[in-house]
Amino acid sequence: MFNKLQNSGKDRLKVEMGKECKSLVFCLLTFTLLYAAFSPSYINPFDTWKQRLSNWNGGNQNSIVDRGIEEKDGQKFLLRRLVRGEDRIRLDSTGFSCNSDFHSEVCIADKPVIVDNNEQTIYVPSTETQAKHMVQPYALKDDPTAMKYVTPVKILHGNTHLPSCDFNHNVPAVVFSSGGFTGNIFHELNELIIPLFITCRHFGSNVRFVITDFKPWWVSKYNRILSRLSRFEVLNPAENGTAHCFPGAIVGLKYHDNLALNYSEIPGGYSMFDFKHFLRETYDLKHRDVPNTEKPVLILISRPNSRRFLNEREMKEMMKELGFQIIVATPNRMSNLDKFASLVNSCSVMVGAHGAGLANSVFLPSGAVMVQVVPLGLEWASTNYFGGPATEMEVKYLEYKITAEESSLSSTYGPDDPVIKDPESIFLKGYHVARDVYVHGQNLQINVTRFRETLVEAMKLLGRYEPLK
Ligand SMILES: *[C@@H]1O[C@H](CO)[C@@H](O)[C@H](O)[C@H]1NC(C)=O
Ligand SMILES: *[C@@H]1O[C@H](CO)[C@@H](O)[C@H](O)[C@H]1NC(C)=O
Ligand SMILES: *[C@@H]1O[C@H](CO)[C@@H](O)[C@H](O)[C@H]1NC(C)=O
Repeated sequence: MFNKLQNSGKDRLKVEMGKECKSLVFCLLTFTLLYAAFSPSYINPFDTWKQRLSNWNGGNQNSIVDRGIEEKDGQKFLLRRLVRGEDRIRLDSTGFSCNSDFHSEVCIADKPVIVDNNEQTIYVPSTETQAKHMVQPYALKDDPTAMKYVTPVKILHGNTHLPSCDFNHNVPAVVFSSGGFTGNIFHELNELIIPLFITCRHFGSNVRFVITDFKPWWVSKYNRILSRLSRFEVLNPAENGTAHCFPGAIVGLKYHDNLALNYSEIPGGYSMFDFKHFLRETYDLKHRDVPNTEKPVLILISRPNSRRFLNEREMKEMMKELGFQIIVATPNRMSNLDKFASLVNSCSVMVGAHGAGLANSVFLPSGAVMVQVVPLGLEWASTNYFGGPATEMEVKYLEYKITAEESSLSSTYGPDDPVIKDPESIFLKGYHVARDVYVHGQNLQINVTRFRETLVEAMKLLGRYEPLK
C-alpha cells in the first residue's frame, strides 16, 4: 500500500539534496528548514520535549541541540539498516517505509512518532494525505492460526490530528506482539527471540519495547534477553493507556528463516554464531565447546503427552550402558529458562522426538550432537525445523527415523491402514487432519537395539568412543 505513496515536492527535493550533502549535520539542518518551509501549519508536538531535555541538562540549549542531532543521526543510520532497495529510498524520502514478505511485515519510521496506547494507534505525522496501515507485529504472517492471537496495530501516516505526548522517550520504539504461539519454546525462539535479536541487536540496547498482547509470564521468562536488548523497562499498552512520543519506531520484527539468522540479510552482519555468543553472555553459560567431563552428559527431552517415548526407562538403561550420564528434561524442569539454559549447556548430546523441546539446542555447546527421533509422517518437518538449523548452531545432527512398528499408530489403525502405508494421502486431506494423527495422536515405542546404533554414532561424533571389543 505504501509502495504507492507519491513523493511530494518536498521529498523529491530532499532526495536530490541528499546527493549534495557533505556534512550530515548540515543536511539535517537543511532538511529541517525545508520541512518547515513546506509545512507552515505543522505543529510539532515534540517541541515541548526538546524544551524538557534542555531543562534536564542545565538549560544549555546549544549543546543539547547538537547532541540531539548527533543522536538522531545515529538512530537514523541504525533504522536505515532495516530496509533496502526501494524500501530504503521510500524511507529516505518519506521517513516511513513498510516491508512485507512471506513471514513478516516490518514498518520503520525514522522520524518522530506518537504511540497512543489508548487506541493501539501509532501516529507518524507528515504533510502527506493520511494513509492507514494495519500491521500484525508477529513473524508468522503465513499462519492464520497464530495470527488469530495477534492484535493488529493501526499506523496513521500523514497529515492528521495528533494526540499530545504524555511521555517522551529518546530512543526508538520497537512494537511487537507476545501473542501468537507463545507457550511453545520453538515458536518463542523462532518468531520472537531470534527476530528480536535480528531487529534490535545493532541498536546496542537503545530501544524501548512496546509489547502488545502482553503476557507477563513471557516477559519474565525472557527477562534476561529482553533487558540486554533494551535498557528500558518494557511498555505494556494495555496497562499504560497513555500517549508516548518516540524519535522513531519499528513495528513488527524481521524474520529470516526457521531458527535462522542470515548474515547477508537485513540488517546484515549477524549469524547464528553471534546469537549463540549473545546467549552465552546473557545466561552466563560456561561452555563454548563440549565440556570434557568423564562421561558425556546426554539430555533426554521427555514429552508427557504426544510423541511420548513409551519405553523411556529401557532407553535410559541402554544409554547408561553405552557410557552416558543421563539427564531427563521434563516440562517442569524446562520452565525455568535461566536454570535450564545452563543445564543444556553442560550437555554433549540432546535426544528427543520431533517437538518444541529440541529448540533448546540453541544452548548446546558447539560440537555437541543432537539426535532427533523422527515419528511417522513428520520427516519433512523434522529435517526443516531442526535438522538444518542444527548445522548453523555448530551442533552435529543425527536422525533416527522410526519404523511403522515403533509407532503407536500401527496398533491404533492396523498395519495396512493408509495412515501407516501412505501418510501423504492423509496430508492431502488437510494439515489439520494430518496434525491430529501424526503430531497429536502418536506415541513411540523405540527399538533400543536399533536406536543404540544411532547413539554409538553420536559417541563417535564426540570423538570419545572406544569400541568395547
Ligand atoms: C506509563 O509509562 C511511563 C513511561 O515509561 C511511566 O513513567 C508511567 O509510570 C507508566 N504508567 C503506568 C500507569 O504504568
Ligand atoms: C541469505 O540471504 C541472502 C541475501 O538475501 C540470500 O541470497 C541467501 O540465499 C540467504 N541464505 C540462506 C542460507 O538462506
Ligand atoms: C529391532 O531392530 C533390530 C535391528 O535393526 C532388528 O533386528 C529387530 O528385529 C528389531 N526388533 C523389533 C522388535 O522390531
